[in-house]
Amino acid sequence: MELKDQIHKDQLPKHIAIIMDGNGRWAKQKGRLRAFGHESGTKSVKAVTEACAELGVQHLTLYAFSTENWNRPKLEVQTLMRLLISSLKKEIKTLQDNNIKLNAIGNLQALPSKVHKELQDVIDKTKTNKRMTLTLALSYGSRLEITDALKDICDKVKNNIISPENIDEYIINQHLYTRNLPDVDLLIRTSGEQRISNFLLWQIAYAELYFTEVLWPDFSKEDLYIAILNYQNRERRFGKTSEQLS
Ligand code: FPP
Repeated sequence: MELKDQIHKDQLPKHIAIIMDGNGRWAKQKGRLRAFGHESGTKSVKAVTEACAELGVQHLTLYAFSTENWNRPKLEVQTLMRLLISSLKKEIKTLQDNNIKLNAIGNLQALPSKVHKELQDVIDKTKTNKRMTLTLALSYGSRLEITDALKDICDKVKNNIISPENIDEYIINQHLYTRNLPDVDLLIRTSGEQRISNFLLWQIAYAELYFTEVLWPDFSKEDLYIAILNYQNRERRFGKTSEQLS
């Protein structure tokens, strides 16, 4: 039986998040520039987005650019921004054809105005799409997100909109960039690194973590199916015992 057909459709992760890592090493192995690795990485973005939509995954969140990535060489940052613009222009058709809504989280104001404009344009054009939400984390850092949420909540406390004793997990969640997304069920990181790198720290509280040696530009639909099958073989206990679950 093909890998895809082994996946239980009734036990799909509702929200998959991916740390796309290894573009640079992939290019180096081929004696090419890092930019070539990033460009090839966009093909995996497309393949994985289509595969998630086809399977019926409702939310896919991709770590495309972190707050720390601004410290990379200027030329590499420019390449990544240019790639974002060209991918958005080119792939709006894929999003529309697959009924996918685009969303973005992060400090979006920090993005160059051209990127911001293109992003907003695609977000607007796809906002009524229903099959899946693709969220791009751009200029994103989880600590920044939590800091921003705290500032908003403090402001509301100061203005008597929220009383401190009512602050709970729900209220904190409602002030994160991801307020409209469910918790992450499956977090994938490619390239063999086993770190979270400031990605969705609050939202992965009960996520299953899956690390693979595959470098992002080589990550295919089949690799996604393997990750989902691995997820489906795990027992998610949410703090309970096995006996309580059965
Ligand atoms: C990590 O590889 C990857 C990134 C920092 C950027 C990911 C970007 C893309 C896949 C292309 C554009 C994205 C979209 C959504 C169109 P790395 O450079 O850290 O690799 P290395 O660890 O091997 O050096």
